[in-house]
Amino acid sequence: APTAVVIVAAGSGTRLGYGLPKALVPLAGAPLLLHTLRGAAGAGLAQQLCVAVPAGDTELTELCRTFAEELGEGGLQITVVEGGATRADSVRAALAALAPGTGHVLVHDAARPLTPSDVFHRVAEALDRGAAAVIPAMPVVDTIKSTAPTEGDAAAIAAEVVTGTAVREQLRAVQTPQGFDAATLLRAHEVAAGWEPEQAAAITDDAMLVESLGTPVYVVPGDLQSFKVTTPMDLHFAETFIAAQG
Ligand code: C5P
Repeated sequence: APTAVVIVAAGSGTRLGYGLPKALVPLAGAPLLLHTLRGAAGAGLAQQLCVAVPAGDTELTELCRTFAEELGEGGLQITVVEGGATRADSVRAALAALAPGTGHVLVHDAARPLTPSDVFHRVAEALDRGAAAVIPAMPVVDTIKSTAPTEGDAAAIAAEVVTGTAVREQLRAVQTPQGFDAATLLRAHEVAAGWEPEQAAAITDDAMLVESLGTPVYVVPGDLQSFKVTTPMDLHFAETFIAAQG
């Protein structure tokens, strides 16, 4: 099926502390987004890359234009759209700009610059086998608990108290690219566009919107190298990975 990769790059990246949009932060001499674009294009699956950039951006847009020129007339279309206030808004903006007839959509975080080609292919293959939604994921190493703010006398002891412990064997840390049948993802985002702000604020990936439709979301193995660059430590980790590959 005609495939598009949506790359969401409209986050502010304040946690990296660079005073730059995260996608512009330099990694091994090139902006983060350039690594992600090369990875997504290099997987060779897509006819279109649609990049959501922050409102008012010029630099990331220029970077996409330069990248498109580098690629030449190879048949890969690069589209840039203005992202929104939340990640889901940015995805929605990108979906509105997909080429007619797009059958499969892979939604990928710009903040995962080192995702191996294999991961893109595992996701695409599950879609080809009939999945309407597929996510790459990793087992978790930490025990994960839910917590709530303390109240009354307990607040003098600590700010939070445990409300439950999930069964670690069943938990997965979810990565991107997340793959979808295009019509399913569009419908899921249309439904979520009507959610109350509090519910909408809790949207952290696209698969959860498809889950809420009752559609099965399949899981394929992710990769350690597909980690999300969020903190300065992650940038060091990414530099180390690139240096190790020579
Ligand atoms: O904030 P978080 O790390 O979860 O962001 C994941 C991805 O979503 C990043 O690549 C970021 O650029 C993108 N994003 C976006 N629009 C927003 C917020 C985040 O495209 N409003």
